[in-house]
Amino acid sequence: TRTQVAVIGAGPAGLTTANLLRQRGVDCVVLEAQSREFIEQRPRAGFLEEWAVRELERRGLAGRLLQQAGQHGAFEFRFAARRHTVRYAELTGHHHFVYPQQELVTDLVAAYADGSAGDIRFGVRDVRLHDLTGDSPSVTYTDPHTGQSHRVECAYIAGCDGARGVSRRHIPAHESVFASHDYGIGWLALLVEAPPSADGVVFGIHPRGFAAHMARTPQITRFYLQCPPGDDPANWSHERVWQELHTRLAVPGAPITEGRIVERQVLDMHNYVVEPMSYGRLHLAGDSAHLVAPIGAKGMNLALHDAFLLSAALTAQLRHGDGARLAGYSADCLRRVWQYQEFSQWFADVLHGATHADPFHARMAEARLQRLLSSPAAATAFCELYIGKL
Ligand code: APR
Repeated sequence: TRTQVAVIGAGPAGLTTANLLRQRGVDCVVLEAQSREFIEQRPRAGFLEEWAVRELERRGLAGRLLQQAGQHGAFEFRFAARRHTVRYAELTGHHHFVYPQQELVTDLVAAYADGSAGDIRFGVRDVRLHDLTGDSPSVTYTDPHTGQSHRVECAYIAGCDGARGVSRRHIPAHESVFASHDYGIGWLALLVEAPPSADGVVFGIHPRGFAAHMARTPQITRFYLQCPPGDDPANWSHERVWQELHTRLAVPGAPITEGRIVERQVLDMHNYVVEPMSYGRLHLAGDSAHLVAPIGAKGMNLALHDAFLLSAALTAQLRHGDGARLAGYSADCLRRVWQYQEFSQWFADVLHGATHADPFHARMAEARLQRLLSSPAAATAFCELYIGKL
């Protein structure tokens, strides 16, 4: 097969890139390791920032999203048995749209594959990238049904294959910096069949550890519980989970509604950035280039930001022979990436502060929180980052 852009991975980054390339008359092929059914059901992130929704809307990709997504403009801290609401939409004019990632993925696959007859191949195995520094790179993969090897020849490769993908590993170590940070903290991520217990997001700061509540749909709620890194989810029985959630999150007059736990998984909180995000004809986008621990719901928004920039840059190059945007692609993405990384780190320190072994560190976290809750200027600066209004 010959195409202009080979897109590896059909997550938010890859599918948005592919849709926008096709809209602008650039030919592409998407290669995805999983099946269509699998990616349309895989629960991941769920909060889209308003700037990202407006850009999807401009491109005709937000139809169902705008009909179905709930809007959030406030969240709540709970600590010392009290509630403190932060109304970020009032301070910034921007909202979050609550739309599960698998719903967005479903819409984007439909728009690309069904709506515009785009070429997407599911279940591919052994994806490898070739000749990245030459003029005619290619991607090979094995067809799962026939066992045959295929080659996609292209002009550019969009490496959108997520945190565990293969694209990033094709960049030689001496050609990029891998900057990373490990929090040394685990989060037990839970999906629960229960209606939300509050309108929006609740962050519980507690000496037993951080806990969070995130409304997803009228039937499904996400919860997080701070736990040791690498903890075994089997250590978290139904009883223990609910006991900890009540202890860390419930306050008088605002109970937590229980339900069946349909997913429990331990995330080791860490961040990384690959810099630059480009190597020869390969350009990374989304989690393949940078991971932000799920503090403040930044991952999916950054994936979309990259995809908007990459599709525009590739179009300028391939349709108009203008390479300036592609040359600046990595730096353009990384400005927002580093703002979000810094925000996540700052916020994580506040959220985890109550359990910090070092009392100095713990008191600093408390001071930050007090300032955020008492100074409108500090709150506005925080909220602009929280909603991604940069
Ligand atoms: N070949 C082809 N596809 C692959 C390969 C591979 N070797 N490895 C992974 N993939 C696919 C995955 O199955 C997935 O569908 O690449 C896709 C990557 O999608 P995401 O992981 O969703 O990453 P991205 O599009 O960057 O979106 C980031 O995902 O992890 C969440 O919360 C995070 O919201 C953020 C978003």
